Amino acid sequence: MDQLIITPGPLRGRTTVPADKSITHRALLFGAIADGVSRVRNALRSGDTLATLDVARKLGVEVRETDAGEWLVHGRGLHGLQEPEEVLDCRNSGTTARLVAGLLAGQDFFSVLAGNPQLRKRPMGRITEPLRRMGAQIVGRDEGRLLPLAIIGSPLRGIEYELPVASAQVKSAILLAGLYALGLTVVIEPGPARDHTERMLASMGAPILRKGHYISSEQPPSEIAPLDITIPGDFSSAAFLLAAGAILPGSDIHILGVGVNPTRRGLLDALIAMGADVTLTNWRESGGEPVGDLHIRPTALKAITLQGDQIVTMIDELPVFAVIATQARGETVVRDAGELRVKETDRIATTVAELRKLGADIEERPDGFVVHGPTRLKGALVWSHGDHRLAMALTIAGLAADGTTVVEDIACAADSFPGFVETLRGLGANLDA
Ligand code: S3P
Repeated sequence: MDQLIITPGPLRGRTTVPADKSITHRALLFGAIADGVSRVRNALRSGDTLATLDVARKLGVEVRETDAGEWLVHGRGLHGLQEPEEVLDCRNSGTTARLVAGLLAGQDFFSVLAGNPQLRKRPMGRITEPLRRMGAQIVGRDEGRLLPLAIIGSPLRGIEYELPVASAQVKSAILLAGLYALGLTVVIEPGPARDHTERMLASMGAPILRKGHYISSEQPPSEIAPLDITIPGDFSSAAFLLAAGAILPGSDIHILGVGVNPTRRGLLDALIAMGADVTLTNWRESGGEPVGDLHIRPTALKAITLQGDQIVTMIDELPVFAVIATQARGETVVRDAGELRVKETDRIATTVAELRKLGADIEERPDGFVVHGPTRLKGALVWSHGDHRLAMALTIAGLAADGTTVVEDIACAADSFPGFVETLRGLGANLDA
């Protein structure tokens, strides 16, 4: 099994991080149904986004890479996708499966979505239920609650749907189906799930309107315009460097060109509340998204409680937040985070189990965890469970721990952060792969 051997130490220097995963998925899929050629600069080439690229190609979409590294997505228009000859393999990517299901529900052809063993365990009823209400014909394992799903494209009608959980993937699936539905589609969200879909579709001329927790999509448009976009760095990847900068003595890290959309940067707000020495400068806009440069240095941190709307704005960052919490003084509580149990792994169980091996004082709760700190972590043999975010969180914990830490099954980091090990080495980390 592939493993990473970590010797503790600080990270220092300036770096960028790979492009945003959520935005890259959307640029490919929305570009696929645009009227014309979309130019996508700085797209993320990771395990998950390459799954979406493959799916787009199987739907007849030509995507070419220029010498300058841009992706040219030859949109086929709203009604130009082709029936795929093969099963559409979403590999380990929940975003691919859920967004593509929404996109395919209203096509006039048949398609099948599949995924790897980890993805086949994740809940799909949350999309098949509202899509069926819109008129979609979807069959799948466990009555359509699990992949593989077979979709018989059908005429759709708009619905008003209150999301049971704040999920950008579910919201996006419904809004994509809404592009093909007669009448008004309304999604009501219980919390501020990432809004890249609304921003991007609106920038392409789709009739998407936002009012507080209500997002509506009017009568189907006849076409949407192509994109011309430079994708910012992924805040969720920068999060691992922010964690390192906050807790590793002697660190000093500048991370340049990071997306700081308010629906994504909950970890930044949490770090500020803990007393971290972090600044956001050079605020600008790129592709309809706010972008900035981050600078972080270690300082004494105090424990906080995270709950309610804060959770969704940092849902993917909670494993590495747990690592930060081990170095904060007092009792850190994370609640209302039951969604963690249906990510790539049950991230409450896996994060708690692995951090305990490093000596963390962390306890599992049904909807989160409680950490007492600060604790001197001790190097140990830990396992990512094949979950990219856990692999990277454990690497940061290893850099903070006394002695040597070995993270088993590290290659999955490339699902979202290709070059993770090289980026850390560029900042001075002593890592042996
Ligand atoms: C994503 C939405 C989130 C997030 C995932 C990416 C997206 O999932 O955890 O990594 O790109 O829409 P949920 O929508 O299931 O919360």
